[in-house]
Amino acid sequence: MSEPIVQYKDVHKSFGDVKVLKGIDLDIHPAEKVAVIGPSGSGKTTIIRMLMTLEEPTSGDIIVDGTNLWKMEKNGAMVDANEKHLRQVRGDIGMVFQHFNLFPHMTILENCMTAPINVKGEDKKEVEQRSMEMLERVGLGDKFDNYPSQLSGGQKQRVAMARALVMRPKVMLFDEVTSALDPELVGEVLEVIRDIAKNDDMAMVLVTHEMDFALDIADKVLFLDEGVIAEQGSAADVIEHSENPRLREFLSRFRN
Ligand SMILES: Nc1ncnc2c1ncn2[C@@H]1O[C@H](COP(=O)(O)OP(=O)(O)OP(=O)(O)O)[C@@H](O)[C@H]1O
Ligand SMILES: [Mg+2]
Repeated sequence: MSEPIVQYKDVHKSFGDVKVLKGIDLDIHPAEKVAVIGPSGSGKTTIIRMLMTLEEPTSGDIIVDGTNLWKMEKNGAMVDANEKHLRQVRGDIGMVFQHFNLFPHMTILENCMTAPINVKGEDKKEVEQRSMEMLERVGLGDKFDNYPSQLSGGQKQRVAMARALVMRPKVMLFDEVTSALDPELVGEVLEVIRDIAKNDDMAMVLVTHEMDFALDIADKVLFLDEGVIAEQGSAADVIEHSENPRLREFLSRFRN
């Protein structure tokens, strides 16, 4: 099998005295689609926020494409990473949030273009071309000049996806991206993610409560419980066949 694109090695995270993650070991391979499920407060968001450099691990290592994310070498010793190192290594990671996080004063085309131009220093024409392609891909080819306030929640979430795709990440993180949407808008967003999952070769990590969706697209499912990976395996093994009582109890809440 290929070298992992992301590795967590004995990663712990505490907020004050509260131990939220208690030793996470995880390999994510190129093109692998990983679904993360688990009860509220189990640490799902914290796991992906550390990879996006939004939270710093209390201990342990996160390796991205062979490079330690949170530590760097200086004069032969490993020291805390500086901003420049974090920015460089994070360049391979894209994230879509629950609440879109679009810039309200920019059109949706400008929302897609700003980071590649202003953070990565890419050529404006090239970025504009790619942004239009990605917006077309998520079904918003007729909305380039609209502002986020003029869009539905599902459309905003599709802009957020196009914006992440324009950065050409090697790993895309999705944190419950449908849970803030009205129920009738969930389907269109899942459909776009499904299209990306089936056609793109980047790795994806999806925190989700959509079990049928996870069964459909995930190569691997993790059940996070009280800060540890309590179960992991193929989607069918974890969602359909596991006998772990806490996992069964968790899943029973999604059956109707
Ligand atoms: N910045 C923070 N400061 C203090 N505590 C935090 C912080 N972020 C998260 N926590 C705590 O860490 C625990 C795990 O939070 P996390 O958001 O990772 O859970 P989650 O599995 O994503 O839950 P949910 O399904 O509700 O989104 C929770 O108890 C939460 O209150
Ligand atoms: Mg969360």
